[in-house]
Amino acid sequence: MASSRTISYFLVLMVLSIFSFSEAREILVGSNTDAWKIPSSDSESLNRWAEGSRFQIGDSLVWKYDAQKDSVLQVTKQDYATCNISSPIAKYKDGSTKVKLDRSGPLYFISGASGHCEKGQKLIVVVLSARHGLTGISPAPSPMEYDGPAVAPTSSGTSLRGGLMVILGGLVGMVLF
Ligand SMILES: *[C@@H]1O[C@H](CO)[C@@H](O)[C@H](O)[C@H]1NC(C)=O
Repeated sequence: MASSRTISYFLVLMVLSIFSFSEAREILVGSNTDAWKIPSSDSESLNRWAEGSRFQIGDSLVWKYDAQKDSVLQVTKQDYATCNISSPIAKYKDGSTKVKLDRSGPLYFISGASGHCEKGQKLIVVVLSARHGLTGISPAPSPMEYDGPAVAPTSSGTSLRGGLMVILGGLVGMVLF
């Protein structure tokens, strides 16, 4: 009896680990640590990049920038349209910003640096609910050329799964021995 209970416990945890963590990704904005800046042309804009990417609930967006010179503001649609930086929903200025996407729909981000939003440093991300997403598809590669260190979008799913399997192994070991 005890062992079949252990096995079902193990199976439930396995299934949970596969379904809850396999798609959580950290997506580097612009696929480049140097991307949060005034775009040099329309084709290099972050919205072009975003159109070729897929954002799902549970993913996180990651921005890298110089904290002395820039920041990331999450704003309303209206403040996005008018580049109004005076009352953001959220303000991030630590140079390495991570925002978890926890609901579907559009999210609006602009630069907090004076004048940058007006020159195109802005981003709309449309977050898809999980059932609309294709499983296992990474964001499409950015069409823009890298002029800085190339950093691929990172996937935390694999390492999370690995970590969970280690914990599971420990649990099973504790129950059995
Ligand atoms: C910016 O937003 C603030 C707060 O919503 C508002 O008071 C202000 O009038 C806005 N400024 C412009 C230029 O729209």
